[in-house]
Amino acid sequence: MDALELLVNRRSASRLAEPAPTGEQLENIIRAGMRAPDHGTLQPWQFFIIEGEGRERFSQTLTEGAVQAGFDEKAIEKARTSPFRAPMIIAVVAKCQQHHKVPQWEQLLSAGCAVMAMQMAALAQGFNGIWRSGPLTDSDVVRQALGCGELDKIVGFLYLGTPQLKTSTTISTPDTAPFVRYF
Ligand SMILES: Cc1cc2nc3c(=O)[nH]c(=O)nc-3n(C[C@H](O)[C@H](O)[C@H](O)COP(=O)(O)O)c2cc1C
Repeated sequence: MDALELLVNRRSASRLAEPAPTGEQLENIIRAGMRAPDHGTLQPWQFFIIEGEGRERFSQTLTEGAVQAGFDEKAIEKARTSPFRAPMIIAVVAKCQQHHKVPQWEQLLSAGCAVMAMQMAALAQGFNGIWRSGPLTDSDVVRQALGCGELDKIVGFLYLGTPQLKTSTTISTPDTAPFVRYF
């Protein structure tokens, strides 16, 4: 897929099924994530690939997190089932450090750019997905399961797979003018 076409017209997809990226496709996705802009070459990210039985374990973790957070039954059930909305999830943790030159917000942005780059690399290979977050990104249970230290932050869960609904490829041309100023 042409790079500009992909960037200008891309859509996220939430209805996802098998197949998920494997082998070289998945490696390309991770490599794209690791080419995110990275001030100081800190590589401030950790990627957790959740698939197969990993989804069961992740479901358990999210359920525990939801219970600990005092969610109502409906929300607990939503947390339990959410990993099964796609054949693969890549949980992205920003691994932040105190740095004399690179503040934490820059490290968070790098990890966020990695999520976007991975979604685009998936799309370029015929897959798609959606970047999700939610209150459980701050859950102690989930943070601990994903090895978060004090400064670390779960920046997203990238759901990946093969889109089930044909999303419209014609995006209405946005009115860019209000968002742009020449200084
Ligand atoms: C940090 C971040 C967190 C997000 N969390 C969610 C989420 O939890 N649930 C959701 O439906 N969309 C979430 N989104 C938005 C989707 O990824 C997506 O951009 C949105 O559904 C619009 O679709 P589009 O990408 O096709 O424009 C999040 C986006 C970002 C950048």
